[in-house]
Amino acid sequence: MRNIRLFLFFLTSLVFGAQLSAQSITPAPLIVRGGVCNGEVCTPAEPFDYTQPFKLSFEGVDAVDIERLTSAVMATGLNIKRVKPAVNYSKKGYLHILIRPDMLPNDEGYAISTAHDGIIVTANAPAGAFYALQTMRQMVESGDWQTGIIADYPRFEYRGVLIDISRHFRTVDFLKRQIDMMARVKLNRLHLHLTDAAGWRLQVDSYPRLTSYAAWRTPHDWKGWWNGDRTFLEEGTEGASGGYLTKAEARELVEYAADRYITIIPEIEMPGHSDEVLAAYPELKCTHNPERQGELCIGKEATFEMMQAILDEVIEIFPSEYIHIGGDEASKENWKLCEDCQRRMREEGLESVDELQSYMIRRMEQYLNSKGRQIIGWDEILEGGLAPNATVMSWRGEEGGRTAAEAGHKVIMSPHGYCYIDAPQDAPYSQPESIGGYLPLEKVYSYEPIPETLDEEVGKYISGVQANLWAEFIVEDSHYEHMLWPRAIAIAEIGWSMPENKNYADFRRRAVAIVDRMIEEGYTPFDLKNEIGNRPESLTDVEHLALGKPVTYVSPSRYYAPKYAAQGDATLTDGKRGTWTYADERWQGFLGRGGVDVIVDLEEVMTIHSVSADFMQICGPGVFMPCLVEIAVSEDGENFTKIADVEWEVVLDELPSFKAFGWEGETRARYVRYKAHRSKYTGFLFVDEIIIK
Ligand code: ACM
Ligand code: ZN
Repeated sequence: MRNIRLFLFFLTSLVFGAQLSAQSITPAPLIVRGGVCNGEVCTPAEPFDYTQPFKLSFEGVDAVDIERLTSAVMATGLNIKRVKPAVNYSKKGYLHILIRPDMLPNDEGYAISTAHDGIIVTANAPAGAFYALQTMRQMVESGDWQTGIIADYPRFEYRGVLIDISRHFRTVDFLKRQIDMMARVKLNRLHLHLTDAAGWRLQVDSYPRLTSYAAWRTPHDWKGWWNGDRTFLEEGTEGASGGYLTKAEARELVEYAADRYITIIPEIEMPGHSDEVLAAYPELKCTHNPERQGELCIGKEATFEMMQAILDEVIEIFPSEYIHIGGDEASKENWKLCEDCQRRMREEGLESVDELQSYMIRRMEQYLNSKGRQIIGWDEILEGGLAPNATVMSWRGEEGGRTAAEAGHKVIMSPHGYCYIDAPQDAPYSQPESIGGYLPLEKVYSYEPIPETLDEEVGKYISGVQANLWAEFIVEDSHYEHMLWPRAIAIAEIGWSMPENKNYADFRRRAVAIVDRMIEEGYTPFDLKNEIGNRPESLTDVEHLALGKPVTYVSPSRYYAPKYAAQGDATLTDGKRGTWTYADERWQGFLGRGGVDVIVDLEEVMTIHSVSADFMQICGPGVFMPCLVEIAVSEDGENFTKIADVEWEVVLDELPSFKAFGWEGETRARYVRYKAHRSKYTGFLFVDEIIIK
């Protein structure tokens, strides 16, 4: 944070008056002070007439940035009468943009000083001025602009969104629309997921089959393709669906983003998630030629020749210092069976397949470093040894990010529990089909990228935060926008605003206004003002006879899955009902064939009138209703009498559902045995509470 003293001096010398609330500015700015001083004479904050005509002038800005900033000025809605690169802003009626190094703590920061008869924008660099103009645009749009000063700069340098155009291809126009919106909320990195099993989306001249074949498939929707034969078609085949960015289109997009001070970070996945590469070039599969292979063969030199040639073309298109090379979720099984991979391991002294993957990532890093570029990889690149200069994108949680930061590597936080916006954002029954879970705006907003327990010095390696929007279930563009907005705005505020300036109620109010405006403009965001909210049952604890009573899990083979243990043996009688997601540590997950089989001990014989437990079904991730629930009671724990058999026909459906399985009547019991059987569908049973009344 350079020159913070100068910044503070600058502020105090220009500003007096009260801190104003920034009613309409998103992300929440650092400082908003009302009133202006002119020499000794100061006047308090007053409404600013932004409809007056302005003459626009620039100082310290080169021609390219003058053009970019002029476009941004025009988009503010201010009444610009004349654009004049010359400097003379002492006269009234000027909007003057002054770029001078070291005026603010970082190059994306800005100050806007508004007097009755003119506006001065100050920044170290053009990006800062651009963000000032986004703030001004929001003040014009909301009609809320007062005289005074706004001084602002981002907390994190990396504020990103991942857009997945592999699973379903999206056009340049669609991407430009999202870039427009990103810029308005000061997001500055677009991570383009260009390649994955379902389709390669970037023209590569040296390997033309990547796009003449591996970019086309039928059916159009990912789910149908994934559950079908997962094959590709020659470009131009009737019925072939897909597409790719030509180099010219990709360059156009890069330029469009750069004009909005957004860097596009291309992701070329390796070695995993590469089924489509091997479909186009099957000679690069491992030596035992498995029918399905998603991982590049690391034993073959040809794999490296190919990836280097691809990266050569990629870096020619994308000027970004950082190139994302994936690294996630490689199944390493084929490498164990492949003669080439095994030879590579012997020759390089690699002791595990993790080290084999690491060998590839390191080689690719070396290659890109030699071209003046840096790599980013998903947190799996830590396994088998981290490449020396790599930035880690932490997605499986924060552990990868923490480990990398402690080792002195840059980190971008994107943990799935907060940043995977492919999960539904409202009651799942009200939302389009998605990957499962529940990630409302409030939860995204609650994310803090620097873990509390991280040493302050280590925390400095956290360079930012990113929302990831994977597109397996998102066929339509309108659906994609629905998932992206407004949750990406929460990421923007996490990335920009200081934690002490964050307030969810205030943010939500501003987000509702942005969403309304987006809808007016033809975007299709989730309409936040109609939000239903969390599962009503989860909002208050449930009182019942079994609350806090011990539960015995009948057979070890029927025990709950460690990943979904929730509160362990206490879960089913802790009074806490589940939310819309099974990942909330309230739902307990059972994966074994035996399903759920538990005995609740009420600790004394009593009269009971009902026994009930809820289950959920989300077919995508393999969560199903039981096909049969049996309930039995006993006074001595030895002799049980069955009181209910509840049968259910499990039907596969797209939307999540919740259902209670229980009994009502009157009986005496101390022990209640609750047994839920799995249907023919392989997957989890999730149950949250066994309620006995
Ligand atoms: C990922 O979600 N596999 C990065
Ligand atoms: Zn191999």
